[in-house]
Amino acid sequence: MTTLAIAGCGTVGGALLDLLARHGDAIERRTGHRFEVLRILVHDVARPRSVHVPRALLTESVTEFLAAPADVVVEAIGGTSTAAALARATLASGRRLVTANKALLRAEGPALAALAAAHAADGAALDFEAAVGGGVPVVRALRESLAGHGVRRIRGVLNGTTNYILSRVEDGADAAAALRAAQRAGFAEADPTRDVAGIDAADKIAVLAWLAFGVDPTRLPVRTLGLPPDPVAAVRRARTQGAVLRLVAEAEEHEGVVRASVAPVLLDAADPLARARDEENVVVIESESAGAITLHGRGAGGSATASALLADLLRASAPVPA
Ligand code: HSE
Repeated sequence: MTTLAIAGCGTVGGALLDLLARHGDAIERRTGHRFEVLRILVHDVARPRSVHVPRALLTESVTEFLAAPADVVVEAIGGTSTAAALARATLASGRRLVTANKALLRAEGPALAALAAAHAADGAALDFEAAVGGGVPVVRALRESLAGHGVRRIRGVLNGTTNYILSRVEDGADAAAALRAAQRAGFAEADPTRDVAGIDAADKIAVLAWLAFGVDPTRLPVRTLGLPPDPVAAVRRARTQGAVLRLVAEAEEHEGVVRASVAPVLLDAADPLARARDEENVVVIESESAGAITLHGRGAGGSATASALLADLLRASAPVPA
């Protein structure tokens, strides 16, 4: 039995609770793991929720939340203030932190990794599959499968919301309506400017560059451009050139120097990145020994992100650059 304290009961935290409630028995049959939720941190205990959670588990107090004797703290509140305090306190108390928070990792990933390493003997560990790629297991790929393979370049569609907007616009929709639909579906950030302006994708490519190249994501400059101001006109122009417009995040290492960017790019229709539809993400990892590996799947939304949290809950932590 693994006990959990879950911070956040919105799109992602709610989806994880739903997944555990509906599939807990099947998960135990398949993996031998059983999870019990001891405490859930929320802004407002009285707020109606789409997922059923016993009222007694809810708290608005960070202190009470952290006092729960949980083996693992799952952070799904986003932002970098309360989340950072929670993350530091969790690791310093020798517990495992599983987070979906890419902004937090870009802001202080190495410091959190160092804290986890310092308290590893007590059980501290840091895992964040859900922070990049939604349900696409790109973090594990870089932390484990491709560690030591000499990764040279990563290219990806890493933001589901902007990809959803571009896909809908390709189908004739209006960009503002498509953004509203992405917000309703739970793809967008609380402040959707982070999606549209490319900041969310910049956070994610910085985290991937940290894993792949060992660069400090807090210092890595990422040249960041968001969606064009008029996506409808931009998509139309792309089409007249026989191209597909996607918001592409890229990081490349050359002779010890890492360059990273996020920008709208015209792609050949045969490019794997051009195949990302709706909220999907696609990541192509090029390495010396394994060549190019493409990962493609649902990159945003409650259930995709909850599946990545569950992946972390089911597996032991792998090393991360401190
Ligand atoms: N807002 C993010 C996106 C959520 O659209 O990709 C998943 O990280």
